[in-house]
Amino acid sequence: MSIQTSHELIATPRIDVARDKIAEARARGDRIGCVPTMGALHDGHLSLVRAARDECGFVVVTVFVNPTQFGPDEDFEDYPRPLQDDLRACRDEGVDLVLHPQMDVMYPHESKTIVDVVGLATHLEGAYRPGHFRGVATVVVKLLNIVRCDVAYFGQKDFQQQVLIRRMCHDLHIPVEIRACPIVREPDGLALSSRNVYLNNDERRQALALSESLRLAEEMIAGGETNLDNVRDAMRKHLTSMPDVRVDYATIADRNTLEELGNPQTEMVALVAAHVGRTRLIDNLLIQR
Ligand code: PAJ
Repeated sequence: MSIQTSHELIATPRIDVARDKIAEARARGDRIGCVPTMGALHDGHLSLVRAARDECGFVVVTVFVNPTQFGPDEDFEDYPRPLQDDLRACRDEGVDLVLHPQMDVMYPHESKTIVDVVGLATHLEGAYRPGHFRGVATVVVKLLNIVRCDVAYFGQKDFQQQVLIRRMCHDLHIPVEIRACPIVREPDGLALSSRNVYLNNDERRQALALSESLRLAEEMIAGGETNLDNVRDAMRKHLTSMPDVRVDYATIADRNTLEELGNPQTEMVALVAAHVGRTRLIDNLLIQR
């Protein structure tokens, strides 16, 4: 007869407590997996947790709404923070430890160090959100230094973020494997996002134009279109056919360098960012030729 033990979740805002628990797990021989998040967990986040659970003996989720990656006119104040729901979801998924540090712990007064991944941080998302990736890179280095995991899990949903973090870990010799997990979508194609809660019914319907524009790009390329400017135009046209959609970018880029392409190549990614009403959404699709 097997004995079922209920799973115990450790939740702490304290870095020292987290470090001790992680050290104990490591001493037991567990592989440590970490899923950095800003909370408001949905199935997209939980898919990363499940990937970590499959590969690692000890799974850490970090929940920290990082102020330095929000621009002055962005939604830092309004960003959802349902910590109790997040802890429940983590417990249900068999997470071992949730670290939810306070702001002054992550950014002590005397903190003077920022991390900038030059080049990659200033185009596409970076062009529309100046300083965003500097905030992301800085906080991810802090989190990786705290947790010192073997594997860190990121979603392809934030495609540029994942490319940039991989590059940063390589450049700074951070000994961690970076895993990129596929985008989780609603049945109708909308990519899950913590920001989807901002959409009203009409905006929710119009937001489908993002994933539709990516499929359109895929179809055009599969159909033999060789001028990617035509694809970009078609994507933009589809998006702007919605009254409340305002496009930041809709493009096809090299999957590794994120440079925009003139002609199709083997490994591409279609990327889109648009405002739907007052909510800014991003999405992307890997395209193979
Ligand atoms: P957050 O937006 O909370 O996302 C946490 C992780 O979940 C990211 O790696 C993101 O790509 C992934 N994710 C979000 N939606 C997803 C979806 N629909 N399918 C698959 N994965 C999805 O990204 C951040 O937080 C922050 O920038 C962070 C890395 C935590 C640094 O502050």
